[in-house]
Parts: sequence; structure tokens; C-alpha cells
Amino acid sequence: MIEFAGIKFRNPFVVASSPLTVKPFLLKRAYDFGAAAASTKLTFIKQPFYQKLRMYHDPKVGSIVCVDRRLDLGEGVSLIEETKKLAPDLVLFANITHPGEDLESWGYLAKAMEDAGADLIEPNFICPNLTLTAERLGQSGEAGGALTGQSPNLAREVVKILKSAVNIPVVPKLTPNVTDITAVAAACAEGGADAITLAGAQLSLPPVDLYNLDHVYELAEGASFGSLGGPSCQLQGYAMVAQVAKRVDIPIVGGGGIMNWQHAAQYMLWGAQLVTACTSLMWYGFELIPKILDGLEKYMGEMGFTSYEDLVGRALYNIRPAADLGMIQDTPVVDSERCNGCGLCLRPAHCYAIEMKDDLPVIDSGKCLGCGICVAICPRKALSFPVYAGQGGRR
Ligand SMILES: Cc1cc2nc3c(=O)[nH]c(=O)nc-3n(C[C@H](O)[C@H](O)[C@H](O)COP(=O)(O)O)c2cc1C
Repeated sequence: MIEFAGIKFRNPFVVASSPLTVKPFLLKRAYDFGAAAASTKLTFIKQPFYQKLRMYHDPKVGSIVCVDRRLDLGEGVSLIEETKKLAPDLVLFANITHPGEDLESWGYLAKAMEDAGADLIEPNFICPNLTLTAERLGQSGEAGGALTGQSPNLAREVVKILKSAVNIPVVPKLTPNVTDITAVAAACAEGGADAITLAGAQLSLPPVDLYNLDHVYELAEGASFGSLGGPSCQLQGYAMVAQVAKRVDIPIVGGGGIMNWQHAAQYMLWGAQLVTACTSLMWYGFELIPKILDGLEKYMGEMGFTSYEDLVGRALYNIRPAADLGMIQDTPVVDSERCNGCGLCLRPAHCYAIEMKDDLPVIDSGKCLGCGICVAICPRKALSFPVYAGQGGRR
């Protein structure tokens, strides 16, 4: 159990808004596999255009979605009503947007979702393919999705309208496509936001087919900027969560690239109360949810954490300006039993500290910069820093 924005969640796992959350039976399945909550598919009063799902995938890197079928108001309302009948205990975030100048319509839409049974409103300030793409191409677009999330003033204004329209918590989902995520998060908090969702969606393009030159997305002609999900969102995601957790005193749903329990734990340690995933479930199924929850629970047991809250923000104390980092002096040593003399450690172009002698690398501590790349790339784990001996070689 973990409390978030005044609501009790049976665990921290939220299924992110996507094709996973577009049908009541899918949401029920997510609940049966252990999810505490889900964010329903993006709902408009009336969506500006109708498209089908089109994506690009690279299992090592991630997925990009350039278009998806969204929901109109009636569909969003019925999704929430039907899901509440099938899985009454699944906490529902209603993911909504309104791409128009009449900002009051955000409130109208949110109230309809509250009346349908939504537990929280998640204004979508993230979707890059709504209008951000048009703006980046020099065309005009009415602020919606990521365009709202790029303007602290607009985000604050929309949150205020939502807060006066509904009695349930408001949790804006922010775009990472900004210079300073904390400025937008702080503006949302000033507007009365109860929490913030930060979950991937960096503006992206898939690689061009080098020989066809035109084939980038499956089953689509042309290339539009899309929203990134999957492993490549993780490291930037950790930074976003930690920055917001440090500056803004409201809870966070953290995500972007959560593929296993370790990633979920990372997000919590960097300051997220809840975690959310989409791409991993689209690739590997709802079966991943119990694996993530089991892994988290075992980890908590090993660490002596007695509640999910114990993880939240535990790594934040360690963040400091680069100038204040403590410098540990050490030079890698070679395990001659493991080393087969392959010479990969001599490759880093900036390094002039390693020489091969009798088929073994010899490292000059006077020249070693301490970058740790030779340790990281050695396929036989034959290099390690002595200072970490007894801690598994490397941290
Ligand atoms: C096909 C697809 C559709 C999505 N639709 C929505 C949406 O309707 N609303 C939203 O806020 N995010 C949407 N997202 C973004 C995800 O909810 C999530 O924030 C993002 O994919 C990063 O998380 P991940 O790395 O776990 O996928 C969508 C993502 C994908 C892949």
C-alpha cells in the first residue's frame, strides 16, 4: 500500500496511457496482473484528427509512436464507467487534453471524467504529435499536449481551471521537451497540481532507411516526429524525476523505459512515489507487472525497507553540484586469470595509460584519468578498481 495525492494505491504500479488502456477488458487484465492503477487513453471533447496506430521499434533502443487513435468524450466516459464496473478497485487517471484557446473546456472535459468515475485527472501536457510537431515544422498549432507543457504560464492556467472544475486530484503529465522541467513542474504546483507525472516521450525520429530513403515507420508514408518510449528514456527520466523531486514538494509518478523491477526501484529512489510503464508491457505483456512487483518486494526485504515510502527519494541526498563531488583516487587492476589479452582496453581513443606487456594490459596510474571505460567494456570483467574490492568489483 502507498498513499499518493490522498488516494491509497495497493502498490506503486501504474499502466501508462496508451493502447494498453483503451478498452475496459484490457484495464481489467492489467488489474488482474497486479496493477494498482492505469491512465486511460488520451481523451478529447472531439479529437482534431483521426489516425491509426503507427510506430517504429528497436528492442534495444525503444519505440516511437507517431500517431494513435485517441478517444472522443463519449468514448472516454464510457471507458471509465465500464472499467469501474469490471475492476472497481483499479485506480483510474483520466488522461485528457484540449487543443483550443477556450481553456475552460479543459474543465468541462475533466468534470465529465470525474462524473464518470475517474479517480484523478491527468492533463496531457506531453503528447508531442498533437501540435508540437506542427510548431517545429514552422506551422501554427493550437496549444495542446506538449505545447502546453512547454509554457509554465499556460500549464499553471490550465491546472487552475482543472482544480476549480473537479474535486479529485489533478496530476499533469509533463513533456521532457523543455529546457527546465522544474520551471513547468513548479508552475503546475502553483496552479494547485496535487502531483506530477514524468514519463518519457522525448521528441524523436526513427532512422531513415539508408537505401530507400523514405521508409521509416512501418505501414506509413512519410515521417512525423514521434514520442519515444522504452530503454533510451531511462537515464534522462531519472534526471527529470530527481530535479523535480528536489525543487517541487508534490508527489511524482515516474517512468520512461521501465523494463524491470530494477528500473522501477531506480525511479523511486530518485524521488517517484509511483512508477508507470507502457513500452515494456506493449512488448512483453501484462505478465511483466507481477515480475516487477515481486522484484520490488524482494529488494525491499533485502534492504530492510518496510514500506514503499521507504524507497522514495532515498538517493536524492547524494546529488550535489559537480564542483562538490568527492574525488576518489584509484587505478584499475588486471586479473591475470580472467584477462585473455584481447586488447579491447587499449582502444579508448582518449586513453594513453594502458600498454600491452606479455599479453597483459599494464596501467600507468600517473596517466590514468579514472574514466572507468576499460573496466566497463572488458568482456571478461578482468579489470576492476581495487577501492571497490569486496563490493562486487564495481558499483
Ligand atoms: C503507442 C503509444 C501511445 C501512447 N499514448 C499516450 C496517450 O494517449 N497519453 C499519454 O499521456 N501518453 C501516451 N503515450 C506515452 C506513454 O504513456 C509513456 O509516457 C511513454 O511511452 C514512456 O513510457 P515507456 O518508456 O514506459 O513507454 C503513448 C505511448 C505509446 C507507445
